[in-house]
Amino acid sequence: MIHRTRAAAIRDRKGQPFATITAYDAAFGRAAEAAGIDLILVGDSLGNVVLGYPSTVSVTLEDMERHGAAVVRGTERSHICIDMPFMSYEASNEDAIRNAGRLIRCGAQSVKLEGGVERAERLAAVVNAGIPVIAHIGVGPQTAALDRGFRRRKDRDRLLADADAIAAAGAFAVVLEMVDHEIAREITQRIPIPTIGIGSGGGCDAQILVLYDLLGFSSFIPPFAKPYVNLFDVVTGAMRHYADDVAAGRDPSDGPSERKV
Ligand code: KIV
Repeated sequence: MIHRTRAAAIRDRKGQPFATITAYDAAFGRAAEAAGIDLILVGDSLGNVVLGYPSTVSVTLEDMERHGAAVVRGTERSHICIDMPFMSYEASNEDAIRNAGRLIRCGAQSVKLEGGVERAERLAAVVNAGIPVIAHIGVGPQTAALDRGFRRRKDRDRLLADADAIAAAGAFAVVLEMVDHEIAREITQRIPIPTIGIGSGGGCDAQILVLYDLLGFSSFIPPFAKPYVNLFDVVTGAMRHYADDVAAGRDPSDGPSERKV
């Protein structure tokens, strides 16, 4: 029987650099696993990059269940963490536990939720129900969309308090999003769980990128995300090639014409 990477194994990677990535379907989950990335986040960035919403607040628990289960089906060994979407954990500990349980029933090994001091109680409730949790502090896209915006967080006292609170509440790792690089380094040295940076500099234990940013496929790529390929051009080039073949009366089932894409 094949075992998936467990939360405890990820917690034990503190101090060893590792890469994580988002995925939203079985095909890209399979690709991430084949690339040796064994912590895959089904992020609610799903809303922006796949579903075409302006922010993550429109994403529902049902969206996360459907896409989370797809990533689970496309993988065998990887640890799959599914994001808890906006308003699936804020109202009560009971809501948070029940909804986290629905995501775990999709085959995930953990869930992620946004917030620091103000969400530590919810996080602890989910952990105490037996569900491993990744925390997410700094810019929280769910609330940033409604309030503070996507500005880099530099409020050191608040960030340190958030980091202490989520570590004490039992998170096994924490995403630091758009945190001042020096403060991110300080948090990494301060707390006993791996920090997973996005736009927070090289001082974090691990890094995460939104898959479609890495592939050069997002309609907006944030300045901190380095595309490793321009897949949008590759894909549109292939589609154009196919359309040209058909327009010229060539049968696409014979394979592509010689033109390079
Ligand atoms: O939803 C997401 O993709 C995320 C990453 C930015 C960490 O939360």
